[in-house]
Amino acid sequence: MISRVSVIRKCFVSTPYVGPRFRPIQQLRFVSFKQVDQPRIRIGSIAPNFKVDTTKGPIDFHEYIGDSWVILFSHPADYTPVCTTELGAFSNLKPEFDKRGVKLIGLSTEGVDSHKGWIKDIEEVQTNGKEFSFPIIADGKREVAYKYDMVTEEDFGALEQGKTVATIRSVYIIDPLKKIRLIMTYPASTGRNTSEVLRVIDALQLSDAKGVATPVDWTVGKEVIIPPTVSDEDAKAKFGDFRKVKPYLRFTKV
Ligand code: BEZ
Repeated sequence: MISRVSVIRKCFVSTPYVGPRFRPIQQLRFVSFKQVDQPRIRIGSIAPNFKVDTTKGPIDFHEYIGDSWVILFSHPADYTPVCTTELGAFSNLKPEFDKRGVKLIGLSTEGVDSHKGWIKDIEEVQTNGKEFSFPIIADGKREVAYKYDMVTEEDFGALEQGKTVATIRSVYIIDPLKKIRLIMTYPASTGRNTSEVLRVIDALQLSDAKGVATPVDWTVGKEVIIPPTVSDEDAKAKFGDFRKVKPYLRFTKV
């Protein structure tokens, strides 16, 4: 049995950990654990499909995506403090994600029963009793974790030796064409920022809709950048007024 304390401790130390959580996991044999065989997920890749059990029943991931944007994000373990704050905060922001046509789906490497027990805690301490609003994948076999490379270098090596690992905090933003559009990767010790996740969704959707780029620290309503591939003449026709700081640095409002 993996102890939660040992998972947490493992995420904070860089020296190899050889405690009791390292146990052979025969059920993982269907996945290749050779590093060279792992798929490389990049911006523009089609999100790998998988069928898996979740707290809202079994899903086929591509069917779950449907015609929506999706945020797939992983968590190191159930009943852990940072993950509890993150999941509660994302659940509370469901109306904001709905407005943007975005579905959320979490992942943790324990079973559905454990996730459901943990959700009760999250509802108690983070959502003010409101029902937790999105499914959490039960990735006990780490199949999704490995497909999406949601592990540290050290844990990748541990898996090749048939040992159990914890996931890190990966975020994949996937568009309705099932393409990976943005990837964020955080270590277990660092909680994510909900505002940043909403901000990049807004930036991606605005870029798609208007053919613009977004500058540093952009938020909705601020000036955007006209891409260098658009001539001044086309920029005038498309955006009307624009502010030209350099031939390659032009700002406008959309
Ligand atoms: C947490 O979610 O609190 C956590 C999980 C694993 C390692 C460190 C923190």
